[in-house]
Amino acid sequence: MCGIVGYVGQQNVVDVVMGGLRRLEYRGYDSAGVAVVAGDEVLVRRRAGKLANLEKLLADKPLPAATFGMGHTRWATHGAPNDRNAHPHLDEAAKVAVVHNGIIENFAALRSHLEDNGVTLASDTDTEVVSHLLAEQFDGDLAEAMRAVCRKLEGAFTLVAVHADQPDVVVGARRNSPLVVGRGDGENFLGSDVSAFIAHTRHAVELGQDQVVELRADRVDVTTFDGQPAEVREYEVDWDASAAEKGGYDYFMLKEIYEQPKAVADTLLGRIDDEGLLQLDEMRLSDEDLRDVDKIVIIGCGTAFHSGLIAKYSIEHWTRIPVEVEVASEFRYRDPILGRRTLVIAISQSGETMDTLMAIRHAREQGSRVLAICNVNGSTIPRESDAVVYTYAGPEIAVASTKAFLTQIIAVHLVALYLAQVRGMKWSDEIARHVDDLAAMPEAVDRVLDTVGPVRALARELVDARAVLFLGRHVGFPVALEGALKLKELAYMHAEGFPAGELKHGPIALIEEGLPVVVVVPPLSRKVLHDKIVSNIQEIRARGARTIVIAEEGDDTVAPYADTLIPVPAVPTLLQPVVAIVPLQVFACELASAKGYDVDQPRNLAKSVTVE
Ligand code: AGP
Repeated sequence: MCGIVGYVGQQNVVDVVMGGLRRLEYRGYDSAGVAVVAGDEVLVRRRAGKLANLEKLLADKPLPAATFGMGHTRWATHGAPNDRNAHPHLDEAAKVAVVHNGIIENFAALRSHLEDNGVTLASDTDTEVVSHLLAEQFDGDLAEAMRAVCRKLEGAFTLVAVHADQPDVVVGARRNSPLVVGRGDGENFLGSDVSAFIAHTRHAVELGQDQVVELRADRVDVTTFDGQPAEVREYEVDWDASAAEKGGYDYFMLKEIYEQPKAVADTLLGRIDDEGLLQLDEMRLSDEDLRDVDKIVIIGCGTAFHSGLIAKYSIEHWTRIPVEVEVASEFRYRDPILGRRTLVIAISQSGETMDTLMAIRHAREQGSRVLAICNVNGSTIPRESDAVVYTYAGPEIAVASTKAFLTQIIAVHLVALYLAQVRGMKWSDEIARHVDDLAAMPEAVDRVLDTVGPVRALARELVDARAVLFLGRHVGFPVALEGALKLKELAYMHAEGFPAGELKHGPIALIEEGLPVVVVVPPLSRKVLHDKIVSNIQEIRARGARTIVIAEEGDDTVAPYADTLIPVPAVPTLLQPVVAIVPLQVFACELASAKGYDVDQPRNLAKSVTVE
């Protein structure tokens, strides 16, 4: 949940690190800090709050020019988000500086050990114990000291450290938490993700589990925690720095909402062979494996969980394989029934969500095969899965997920069709028809984006609403959940999504005069479902609700009951979420903006939740 940047080379390290932290700030923004080594001293500047506070401090109290060091943006776990708990943390002699992402689960025992040895700790963090342990272990070789300390730690951690007595060396380590190397010409970088160094190099080196990396300007050495040379994978980052800029939009979120047509189109690219059959080349599961599957469990968190709920409908409808959908943080604690014939599908934009990562580890221990659906090439979850289907949404910087969600829906449809194709449930002409439906989605999303003006006006009208409810049936129910989540995380409002049929079993008691209720109406072609939800709209309207109805263009039956009608293009039932969610993304974004909140970095949140 934190952002880390390390550097060694010829440039001024403060410039490189601060540039990287600006690109990583979406990973956490409770505090920020930098450490450099100048002469035989480690010098640190750190400040609570956003990066701008650190920038002000550096302007008032600049650090001297230096060529190696690191920086950190924090999402607080242990210790309040204040100056004293901000990273980097130092040992008592101020010779070692360390930054950390994750949770050291045995930090209390380590803290006692240090205090018993007379060490006085200056912060409430788990991280600080590492700086003292490194000082204790250091005998001229920081990488060796790091290996010794890592062998004592339990939990999830990415660590980056420098020592005043070992010039031009930056050392990193990782377990269950992301860290990637950027290889430059006469300079090298460390980052929580490639955004940290994308402005300088696109040559990246993936670090594996329980590895220590020793960075010099002209070399990178990677070992295991036991000091054995480690295998690493080098790769080219598949997007450039401009992709991680706002491109003239006020917010990354708005830019990413408007990138959705292209993101969907890019996710479909190259997935159909010359015979019109689907090819998922990263799908490293054999056709025989896939024919052997007798149950599917889909896991994810937040928005990824919602795209999993949508996946259930298409996979069951097209393959008749039973599908369970689980919140990743609950999955392994309910002692799930798994086996060789269970396919676990893990959906994750970042590929680093700890809840999801721990869930797939559990699934693999139980003998199940895991297919990841992920937006970040080379991230941990696809690396630890048997197969992966990448989405090609490009970097999603805003904490609130939008284009990743749409591309996840596309990807799960491709997986459902691929399973049906491999298992002989769909002939190639049927596949071709569904693929045509998918290929029409970018244009359909474009059309929604062209007509969201009234949605923006509605958001500003409702800026003082106390709560908003969201109703849907069938695949409209996960859309209701996702619309509610967007409003919670952006406008800090009470918002709740329900299956419309559940209304009369309790939630209808919430309906009162003027309460805004968003209803996602199924296509007219689903007459039974459609008629039932029209009845639901009448029920809430009769009790004073302010009805905001999303329905397909030309559906006149709902108009009399809609205080606000938001038409979306008519698309096949299973693809309706692709168009229905877009107005709700814009609605939440606009409402947050109307409230004056930080749209891209909402309070208390971070983009990638790399702690359990
Ligand atoms: C969505 O808007 C949130 N930012 C959050 O729920 C997110 O979807 C969730 O943390 C899962 O992240 P992942 O897709 O990177 O695993």
